[in-house]
Amino acid sequence: MDCLGLFILLMLQCFQWTTAPAAEEVSWTYTGLVGQSEWSQYFPDCGGTSQSPVDVVTTQTKYDPSLIPLTPLGYSQHGNKPFTMYNNGHTAVIELPDWMGLGGLPWLFTAVQMHLHWGSGGPSPGGGEHTINGLSADAELHVVHYNSELYPNMSTAMTQSDGLAVLGVLIVTAEETNPAFNNILNYLSRIRHADQKVSIPAFDIQSLLPKDLGRYYRYNGSLTTPPCYQSVMWTLFNERIQISKAQLLKMETILYSSKANDPDRMLLQDNYRATQPINHRVAFASFSAESGKALSSGEVTAVVIGVMCGCVGLAVIIRFIVKTIRFLTLLHGESVVVNRMKEPEKEKEKKQDMALNPTSEAETKEEPSPSPHTEL
Ligand SMILES: *[C@@H]1O[C@H](CO)[C@@H](O)[C@H](O)[C@H]1NC(C)=O
Ligand SMILES: *[C@@H]1O[C@H](CO)[C@@H](O)[C@H](O)[C@H]1NC(C)=O
Repeated sequence: MDCLGLFILLMLQCFQWTTAPAAEEVSWTYTGLVGQSEWSQYFPDCGGTSQSPVDVVTTQTKYDPSLIPLTPLGYSQHGNKPFTMYNNGHTAVIELPDWMGLGGLPWLFTAVQMHLHWGSGGPSPGGGEHTINGLSADAELHVVHYNSELYPNMSTAMTQSDGLAVLGVLIVTAEETNPAFNNILNYLSRIRHADQKVSIPAFDIQSLLPKDLGRYYRYNGSLTTPPCYQSVMWTLFNERIQISKAQLLKMETILYSSKANDPDRMLLQDNYRATQPINHRVAFASFSAESGKALSSGEVTAVVIGVMCGCVGLAVIIRFIVKTIRFLTLLHGESVVVNRMKEPEKEKEKKQDMALNPTSEAETKEEPSPSPHTEL
């Protein structure tokens, strides 16, 4: 009896344990039962006040001159050892070698992996996670690093407020193919199903980044997927990179979030999180709207020509004014002789008229100047 009671109790406890799985085991998605609006029920940090992505409102950013250009370390020294790329059911992840890192931050950060977020084509905009002034990109690349000066590895660092540094690169479509992206896209067909893995030839990771690494936004945020730890020092580059429409389409349509043995195939699409409230946070800009704008030689020429035209125009106006004043002085002198004190009011009016209405100079010239007074 006692034994049976204990057994039942144990069974019940087992049952409880199994029905309340650890947060890491919850298979989350972007829409549906464990979609992004439900994440915080299973992953409390997803309901925090410093979440990512955010909409960067440029008029509300603060210029911080101490934000120096970032230095990718070893991004181009990829060596011959292939990279590993895998489909984790949420995105394609490329593991990065630990000699790659980031300089230009308060600590040294070591690269861990990079991955992409995208949409589903069609008429709905979106695919990128961060937006700038409400404008979304078609896709977004994230290069993830951990603070290797303070923490021994990624799993320890990812829960610390100063643990991670992620580069965000907004991707939009253009006419031309971006050859750097083919280093990834060409191998997606080998990892169509979740949990599949492939070795891909090593390539220059810096070729995926924008040319201008000096202009970016910086803010404190989170992982954009569960468990949404608020441990990320974000760098969102101002310059967007371009890929072709065909390249985007490949990214959007080739992968499944379902596993190879799963009878219900689920396309891996719209794997981007909606922007989160900025709350108390400030997004800093490494550049100011005016001074940050480097003028191209064409713009410089335009400014020079503009200034020259302005000077010539000013000279013409000054010459005209001087001539008018001389003429008026002459007129005044004559009228005083003809008509001493009789009508000083009319004289004043006339002067104002001449100054305000330049054409009257020509008209008056045709007639002898004392004519208005001869009537009197
Ligand atoms: C990370 O470092 C911690 C602390 O040294 C250690 O306990 C843990 O096993 C490490 N994790 C991995 C994945 O290496
Ligand atoms: C991020 O948070 C840390 C610690 O609270 C703070 O020192 C730093 O200035 C913050 N950075 C930004 C960009 O807000």
